[in-house]
Amino acid sequence: MMKTININSHVILVLCVVNLGVLCYGEADYNDAAPMEEGEKTALYSAIQGFVGNWWNGSDLYPDPCGWTPVQGVSCDLFDGLWYVTALSIGPILDNYLDCAPIVEFRPQLFELKHLKSLTFSSCFLSPNKLPITIPNKNWEKLAGNLETLEFRSNPGLVGKVPSSFGSLIRLQSLVLLENGLTGELPRNVGNLTKLKRLVLAANWFYGRIPDTLGGLNELLILDLSRNLLSGSLPLTLGGLNSLLKLDLSNNQLAGSLPTAMCHMKNLTLLDLRNNKFSGGLTKSLQEMYSLGEMALSNNPIGGDLQGLEWNSLQNLVVLDLSNMGLTGEIPESIAELKRLRFLGLRGNRLTGNLSPKLATLPCVSALYLDGNNLTGELKFSERFYGKMGRRFRAWNNPHLCYPDGLVSTGHAPYGVKPCQQEVTLVEANTNSKLGDGNFNQNSHLMASLGLSSYVIGGFWRFYLVQVFMMAQLLNCFL
Ligand SMILES: *[C@@H]1O[C@H](CO)[C@@H](O)[C@H](O)[C@H]1NC(C)=O
Ligand SMILES: *[C@@H]1O[C@H](CO)[C@@H](O)[C@H](O)[C@H]1NC(C)=O
Ligand SMILES: *[C@@H]1O[C@H](CO)[C@@H](O)[C@H](O)[C@H]1NC(C)=O
Ligand SMILES: *[C@@H]1O[C@H](CO)[C@@H](O)[C@H](O)[C@H]1NC(C)=O
Repeated sequence: MMKTININSHVILVLCVVNLGVLCYGEADYNDAAPMEEGEKTALYSAIQGFVGNWWNGSDLYPDPCGWTPVQGVSCDLFDGLWYVTALSIGPILDNYLDCAPIVEFRPQLFELKHLKSLTFSSCFLSPNKLPITIPNKNWEKLAGNLETLEFRSNPGLVGKVPSSFGSLIRLQSLVLLENGLTGELPRNVGNLTKLKRLVLAANWFYGRIPDTLGGLNELLILDLSRNLLSGSLPLTLGGLNSLLKLDLSNNQLAGSLPTAMCHMKNLTLLDLRNNKFSGGLTKSLQEMYSLGEMALSNNPIGGDLQGLEWNSLQNLVVLDLSNMGLTGEIPESIAELKRLRFLGLRGNRLTGNLSPKLATLPCVSALYLDGNNLTGELKFSERFYGKMGRRFRAWNNPHLCYPDGLVSTGHAPYGVKPCQQEVTLVEANTNSKLGDGNFNQNSHLMASLGLSSYVIGGFWRFYLVQVFMMAQLLNCFL
């Protein structure tokens, strides 16, 4: 039954197509449809031919590019009853796409498409050694009236500088120059593109400082300059980007301290400054970036400690990566109040002191990297915690850290951490029999090491321990 229906619908479809054909070729009915401006059509064919090669004969293959023979990657719109091209996308992102020839050229006709809103090149200019291509500096101002999106993605053969004439494209909302072979300094007049919402210049060979003019782009939502060779310190004006949602400057050679003005970025959800040369400690104003979901500052010689910030004000943090930053001092307990935290990376620092067992109560945590520090004392996490985390709990390479032997079966012992001394277990056995509370096991070691360890633990036990401690002090005095 289904089969016949299918066949029937196919037949109907074929009939329709035939009918259309009759309509189009037979009568003058075709003229009823809005025509495309002739100059626009010629310009489109020539512009595309410049990229895909002379074999491509547009007027043969696509006689009505905005109508019944649409070209992949071309969109049109009606203006005063005529069709004009509004979007052109070259490169293999769609089926039946316009694929670039080995030798490509930006023909002047490209800039005659005066209603163009969006122009994209993906994987088009591919050979940086044999056939490098530069973006022409001329003619861009002709597109300034309408162009909102300009993207060059994954074109390793696209070399040279960003043309300064891009500064004339004042309607641009999205400028994406991602994974190309572009080089030179970032043009200062990118600051003229005040409508920009997205500026992505990642993974090129850009060098020099970040121009302070970028600070004027106050509608910017995404700024990604990662994976370049940018150096120098961040311009103070960057704090003016107060609508920013994502700031990625990772993998450059940026230096200097983090500007306090960054605290104006109240809507920022991603701050990625990894793999740079930032120094000068963690600025306190970081704690005012309340929307932050990801803060990744690892692999920077930032130094200083973690105590200066009220970490619990960053309640949206999901990822906190502060590895390899030369941090000293203890891990503040306020980090354990970040209820959404999934990843906490503190490895490769010089952190000292004991680890608060509260870290194990982070409800969402799925990776806790503390290896390569100088943490001391006993790890007071539950066996269940070690079991849940496996190797995603990393505490190795902390020579003075140990876990209480006997509380944890060897199968679930934290990897690379040695068991503590035997005497501790004896004291613990006594307290166990007296108090008979499983939960207390984790904390009972405090008894043995009282005075050495400065843990704050929950209500009653804290009170109880203080009592014991005072008794011991009193006895000391009398003896
Ligand atoms: C395309 O083909 C037509 C004939 O089919 C020819 O007249 C025209 O010159 C060709 N155009 C190009 C640009 O090769
Ligand atoms: C960009 O703006 C500056 C002023 O900030 C101006 O002098 C310059 O001519 C502008 N550049 C372009 C290309 O519009
Ligand atoms: C931050 O986001 C809120 C809510 O989306 C919005 O109302 C506000 O205008 C944004 N702030 C800035 C400075 O863009
Ligand atoms: C680690 O801490 C111990 C004791 O807290 C101290 O003696 C030692 O010097 C520290 N090691 C390093 C490399 O800082």
